[in-house]
Amino acid sequence: MAKSKNSTVFFCQNCGYESAKWLGQCPGCKQWNSFVEEPVSSSKTASKKNRIPGQEKKPALLSEISLQEEDRITTGMAELDRVLGGGIVEGSLTLVGGDPGIGKSTLLLQVCRNLALGGHEVLYISGEESLKQIKLRANRIGEFNEKLRLYCETSLEEIEEVIKRNKPKVVIIDSVQTMYREDISSAPGSVSQVREATSVLLQLAKGLNVSVFIVGHVTKEGTVAGPRVLEHMVDTVLYFEGDRNASYRILRGVKNRFGSTNEIGVFEMAQEGLREVPNPSEFMLSGKPLDASGSVVVCSMEGTRPILIEIQALVCQSNFGIPRRQCIGTDFNRVNLLMAVLEKRVGLQMANCDAYVNIAGGLKIQEPATDLGIVMAIVSSFKNRPIDNGVIAFGEVGLSGEVRAVSMVQSRVQEAKKLGFSTCIIPYVCLESVKEIKGIQIIGVKNVAEVMDLQM
Ligand code: TYD
Ligand code: MG
Repeated sequence: MAKSKNSTVFFCQNCGYESAKWLGQCPGCKQWNSFVEEPVSSSKTASKKNRIPGQEKKPALLSEISLQEEDRITTGMAELDRVLGGGIVEGSLTLVGGDPGIGKSTLLLQVCRNLALGGHEVLYISGEESLKQIKLRANRIGEFNEKLRLYCETSLEEIEEVIKRNKPKVVIIDSVQTMYREDISSAPGSVSQVREATSVLLQLAKGLNVSVFIVGHVTKEGTVAGPRVLEHMVDTVLYFEGDRNASYRILRGVKNRFGSTNEIGVFEMAQEGLREVPNPSEFMLSGKPLDASGSVVVCSMEGTRPILIEIQALVCQSNFGIPRRQCIGTDFNRVNLLMAVLEKRVGLQMANCDAYVNIAGGLKIQEPATDLGIVMAIVSSFKNRPIDNGVIAFGEVGLSGEVRAVSMVQSRVQEAKKLGFSTCIIPYVCLESVKEIKGIQIIGVKNVAEVMDLQM
């Protein structure tokens, strides 16, 4: 349907849902009060834009397409390379999202530094900070060489010009929410502007074969359009997450056209920028109390990587009629379900107990393999009986109290062995797959009642 030239539409600033009239709640993402009125961009921009430049105009046979090993540029940071699937692909468009202040600019400036030291031409375009501010940040990070150029600009026409003139290998756009096109009348940061900016950058990346990183802020208030509205346009989406108060940061791949998703990279924010954490398990377990009840170590998979985490539980007598239940870092309903299983299948009387479950270190874990750990931590706290420090457990717990199989048992057990654990409690059905691993005691359990009978 052709819209008249000066009509307006309403966009959800969270997910980009488009509506002809204002809505209180977005039907797409269920956010409240996220609709903002924006003028419709003139239709001449839309149609021609969506073609990938440099491509043949006629359909091709799959067998005719020649494929050489894509050239990947290493970022100089193994954690980031892993999330990207082995390095930066030429001509790719990568979105780096995250809360303001989490460290996106820092990470990308460090990447710039490494790439420049590797002899690649890099252009860092900032619409948020002045050259002086970038210099201050750069001074904390370290020495830079001549291959990196900085440019403060928010007009897309100018940026396009500069990229075409300088032909860098890698371009950083910090951030997409500050970029604007003059011929679109809505404000920078609105859905139309952010989409248009990304589409211009996509053309540039594919057309000139430069790799482009764009930074996108995630905002809960919805004052600027979130990166969610661009996820479908870019090749790779990375989200930077982590507690602002904790020093570590996790970089998570949620979409990757050139590699696997679900990979994570772990970083630590230090005085001189972000530092890689090659062994997150050690990092997560540092500070674990010895011989304290209600604490147990579990192994969770983050992509292909096993990470050991401490689960803590505190169960105590409730002083009010309705017991309090609270969870940090794990699913509240899951914990309630597991407590109900314990009451019904093992006969623990916890109906008048408060219960608090915490994933130490501030990680958020949804994997069902942590069920067994949560159950053990709750029982340990309830009975005030510490679990041996050399024990690690994982397994999914079902409603009848059975301990069910989980994936990648071998790598989990290997990780536990590597970090010096002596006993591994795993689902009974998984015993077969790990019988070759020596040097660690492996106990298979069929249900939660069996776990309770173990002498630990
Ligand atoms: P920044 O990269 O500016 O965040 P974003 O671009 O995602 O908004 O990160 C800013 C935070 O990082 C700020 O709170 C200070 C901290 N920081 C350090 O702790 N050490 C450093 O060397 C740098 C550069 C920043
Ligand atoms: Mg920034």
